[in-house]
Amino acid sequence: MVWPSRRQEKCLVRAIPQIKPTRRPWYCSPIGAGWVVGAGRSEADAPIVHLCMMHFCIILERMMNPFRFGAVVTEDDFCPRPDLVGQLRGCLESRQHVALLGERRTGKTSLIFETVRRVRGLRLVYAQLWAVKSVEDVASRLLRAISTTQVRESSFVERVARSLAYLRPRIEFDPTTGQPSITVSPGTKLPPAGLHGVFDFLEELSVRHRLAVVLDEFQDIRAVEDAKALLGEIRSRIQGPGRAPYVFAGSIRHEMERIFRDPSSPFFKSLRTLEVQELSREAFQEFLAKRFVSGRRRVPGATFDAVFVLAQDNPGDVQQFCAAVWDVSSPGDVIEGKQVQAALAHVLVTERKGYESQARRLTSNQVKCLRALARIGGQRPQSREFLTEAGIALPASVKRALTRLIDLEIVYGPEVGHKFFDPFFKQWVLKEL
Ligand SMILES: Nc1ncnc2c1ncn2[C@@H]1O[C@H](COP(=O)(O)OP(=O)(O)OP(=O)(O)O)[C@@H](O)[C@H]1O
Ligand SMILES: [Mg+2]
Repeated sequence: MVWPSRRQEKCLVRAIPQIKPTRRPWYCSPIGAGWVVGAGRSEADAPIVHLCMMHFCIILERMMNPFRFGAVVTEDDFCPRPDLVGQLRGCLESRQHVALLGERRTGKTSLIFETVRRVRGLRLVYAQLWAVKSVEDVASRLLRAISTTQVRESSFVERVARSLAYLRPRIEFDPTTGQPSITVSPGTKLPPAGLHGVFDFLEELSVRHRLAVVLDEFQDIRAVEDAKALLGEIRSRIQGPGRAPYVFAGSIRHEMERIFRDPSSPFFKSLRTLEVQELSREAFQEFLAKRFVSGRRRVPGATFDAVFVLAQDNPGDVQQFCAAVWDVSSPGDVIEGKQVQAALAHVLVTERKGYESQARRLTSNQVKCLRALARIGGQRPQSREFLTEAGIALPASVKRALTRLIDLEIVYGPEVGHKFFDPFFKQWVLKEL
């Protein structure tokens, strides 16, 4: 008998979120079959139900947009990058701490989730440090990560409450899943050394379970008051002969580089660094082409070239663009310039509000610089050509405007020619600003 593939099963779950395929194929159980074709069905109907479902799966797979963006991708949504997975896996298995550096949406978080998934018995303690402002915030994010880790121990919550009583933990339970969420109670003040209990707890947990601790968006820790002392504290805790490997991932390159490559930082040269760059073009194109083929669309190489240029080769943006191409095309189409333009218009309509409010907050010189960057690029922003294109007389004014655009995370720094963070924003600037 042929069962639905994992991909087909996923399409099914996306189309009908109420279903929870626990046993494969779930609909062959009397309950599953009854649910699919109406009450009163018995197990004897299973083969018929199975055939209908296979048919349904194939149709669904053809209809549903197969491109994923804006979220972590794993399993068959993850385009293979064996080198990086192998290197990270090697680090995790040998309990070596790692810093993962890369531009936005290059796939750092997905790489971590996929690699951990492939290491048998390894559990992820995943803390997101996005926008942390204080040591208490960092403690809360770590506690939340600990509480959402799949550690099934009946006394787990009591142990957290007991060991970390000095943090005044606030424990809440999700009403639907019963999953505990632990954070630091509001009003608690902690010095950097106040994190010791959390690290002790993680250490204790790693004696009984194989753990990988991930601190994602780690660069934001620099916004915490007394960041240097906090970094020193974390560094001293991971220096010893611990059992769990730590992964520090971050996107804003120069901030991460300051932490790991600046001689005055406590983390200077302290761990292995892995660079996450764009996916290999060949592998990624093949991965995308297969998805278009599953929806009976053909994409010539020249169209892929145009898509990769428009999306600046960024995996997340390429997937977003392909999703738009899918939306504006139909089965049987050969995707060419017309559909690419329609897809771009589709993306810009979706993003328009955000772009408008971003542009509204800029000064006149910043807008002028942005226009010039979109038209001629930012390799030589002090050149006469750039000043003329921007319509600004003084190089110092250009420098000030660019520094602000970098701080606002609208463009990257000079090391990558002031490339736009969001390639579709560049297209919007060219068309609308
Ligand atoms: N291996 C991959 N295969 C296919 N698509 C990928 C892969 N890695 C990343 N992507 C695409 O990039 C998007 C962003 O991935 P992810 O969140 O892992 O990147 P990130 O570098 O952690 O991003 P951020 O800088 O926003 O934290 C995904 O939703 C997906 O569209
Ligand atoms: Mg990420």
